[in-house]
Amino acid sequence: MYVLGIDVGTGGTRVLVVDQNGHLLGAATEEHQNFASPQIGWAEQDPRDWWRACGIAVRKALAHAKVSSDQIACVGFSGQMHGAVTLDAAGEPVRPAIIWCDVRTEKQCIELTEKIGAARLIQLTCNPALPNFTITKLLWIRENEPEKWKQVRHVLLPKDYVRFRLTGERGMDMADASGTLMLDVAHRRWSAEVLQAAGLDASLLPPLYESPDVCGAVSAEGAAATGLKPGTPVVAGAGDQAAGAVGMGIVTPGAVSVTIGTSGVVFAATGSPALDPKGRLHTFCHAIPNRWHIMGVTQSAGLSLRWFRDNFVPPGDGKTDPYDMLTAEAKKVPPGADGLLWTPYLMGERTPHLDPYARAALVGLTASHTRGHVVRAILEGVAFSLKDSFTIFGEMKVPITNIRLGGGGAKSPLWRQIQADVYGSDVETIEQEEGAAYGAAILAGVGAKMWSSVDDACKQIVRVRERITPQPAAMKTMNTSYAAFRRVYPATKTIFAS
Ligand code: XUL
Repeated sequence: MYVLGIDVGTGGTRVLVVDQNGHLLGAATEEHQNFASPQIGWAEQDPRDWWRACGIAVRKALAHAKVSSDQIACVGFSGQMHGAVTLDAAGEPVRPAIIWCDVRTEKQCIELTEKIGAARLIQLTCNPALPNFTITKLLWIRENEPEKWKQVRHVLLPKDYVRFRLTGERGMDMADASGTLMLDVAHRRWSAEVLQAAGLDASLLPPLYESPDVCGAVSAEGAAATGLKPGTPVVAGAGDQAAGAVGMGIVTPGAVSVTIGTSGVVFAATGSPALDPKGRLHTFCHAIPNRWHIMGVTQSAGLSLRWFRDNFVPPGDGKTDPYDMLTAEAKKVPPGADGLLWTPYLMGERTPHLDPYARAALVGLTASHTRGHVVRAILEGVAFSLKDSFTIFGEMKVPITNIRLGGGGAKSPLWRQIQADVYGSDVETIEQEEGAAYGAAILAGVGAKMWSSVDDACKQIVRVRERITPQPAAMKTMNTSYAAFRRVYPATKTIFAS
């Protein structure tokens, strides 16, 4: 028997077919067609387009794997977190979903924090009010689109909407629900106090499940759209960060992952809800019963390098990968980039500054610096920014026993070495680097009793590919550079705020 992992991402929906040994038999991605940013800082998508993409990607993945639908034991989901999907009584979207990276809700954040009190809000939900979180998006709709708000009967997160179309059942897992700011994260239940303070009716919210719980089965309509067999069980799954961590084996306390995609995330599994009183990290439920996680987010990690490539590198001959060319230039530059520093705040910053007005800076340029220096400074600056999350873990006494690297950033040998040197620790890569969709497949396998638990699945199928050790001299230089990096934001902050 096989399981299916479906990740409803931002750019597209990815589907994997996985066997009992964790091997990938087939995969397919279908891009999403509509992403709208009607105003600066706004980001919206039509939920129906995710469902369209899911149907196509499931059919393609099954065909690629040469597996028939009656061989699929269970389906698991992961997806972009935080997005507000608002449905009417008939289950139709009332408006486009306001997704995770939309930051229009600063006013609602301030008002909610004033109403509940900053410290009380962290006590209730383990997190502060950030524009990324779902509740602030609901309050924005209620305030700005009252006619539409009157029609809203149900609120779901992106992957839960797709699962609703597949099964006809509404549900949400604890991990993804944590990013709504409506969950009492410590007790794994909706927070009646937050809902009351916000004036939101609890009937808007779906039942809660643990991630490996079966919460529905493929309906006749779901089967017609995807080619799956009616009655196939479906588990609740998890938000992409928790699911991605499961896929990398970051499940027991001490295990930490650093994933560099567009954004960068440092993720630690914990045995209890570890709180940062300053709210610089997110404290969420993990995709495993009775386990939690903390994570720090660097908004522009891979994006820093991509931005540099897009704006400062002439289109090549199509034969050489521009990233390979840039990292080859950076490799010739010594650790510390001869004093050049990059703070990667191209899109403001979440951890540790929680400052949407933070701006990036390239500090310390001299006439002898080259393009390779700038690229090296960018790679190091992103790693310094991720190290900021480790620094907070240290303050909170969160144990770290092993660090695994993932995302596009883990594919560059230079960036892997820089990360080992900056974190001052061995770092590992894993064999099957398939991210959140792989975690979703593991959760489905646990739901189908293919493995007895998430821990058991990870022990059996997540294997280390490579271990990279820090170089002592580089580590020393990186420590000095990190101390300098930490001084750039306080020194530049006031310029940008005004
Ligand atoms: C997590 C977050 C992103 C989104 C997008 O807090 O905002 O990981 O889930 O994928």
